[in-house]
Amino acid sequence: MKLDEIRIPRFDAYERVMHWMAALSFVYAALTGLALWTPVLYWLASLSGGGFVIRGTHPWSGVLFSVVIGWMYRRWAKTMYLDADDRVWLTRLDKYATHQHGALPPSGRFNAGQKMLFWSQVATGLLLLVSGVVLWFPEEMPRGLRLAAIAAHPLAAIGSIGGILVHIYMGTAAVPHSMRAILRGWVSPEWARFHHPKWYKVWRDSANLR
Ligand code: HEM
Repeated sequence: MKLDEIRIPRFDAYERVMHWMAALSFVYAALTGLALWTPVLYWLASLSGGGFVIRGTHPWSGVLFSVVIGWMYRRWAKTMYLDADDRVWLTRLDKYATHQHGALPPSGRFNAGQKMLFWSQVATGLLLLVSGVVLWFPEEMPRGLRLAAIAAHPLAAIGSIGGILVHIYMGTAAVPHSMRAILRGWVSPEWARFHHPKWYKVWRDSANLR
């Protein structure tokens, strides 16, 4: 078999279903949350069920998103810790942004930027869940906690939405063929060697290729 006919498995079916559940629950929670946040964005309610409906569905979509983030944590956390190469990679982010890939240390299955996105989503997801529960049942909460939640919930949402906008840009426009990985589960050897050389090497050694 020629090298360009080989498909390297990147995400199994469980990971792909998990990812798209995160994406759907996130988009719904973000649209409804923005509609509830400010009258300027209330028109978004008409895209997601109408004002009355979204008051009830927004918290539940947030709960679903948190559950999926919990699954992601269980599945991916151990591959998301930064190694020595990742720490150098982060100091050379400008090289990544300007496509000087030769100046970057090699990445494993995920690069340092992807790892930072993961941890930022875990952190903001936790903050959104805790502050969201406080806002869901305000009568039962002390005043100080309510005020803290009123400030924390939109701030965490802005951080989370900003991160996901960058992630969508990276996964679609900036890194061609990434979508194939998360939709169909595989990548080509060229893609793996270019974007994730250390991960490619592990696969190549296990497949006994030169
Ligand atoms: C809404 C549209 C989304 C699109 C188009 C999208 C796209 C992608 C793509 C193409 C990959 C594969 C990257 C690779 O193979 O290296 C990926 C992976 C991943 N996605 Fe998404 N994604 C979306 C939403 C989300 C959301 C809401 C989360 C929430 C946490 C998320 C978290 C992740 C994580 C942790 C990975 C693995 C690491 C990484 O590649 O960053 N994604 N996504």
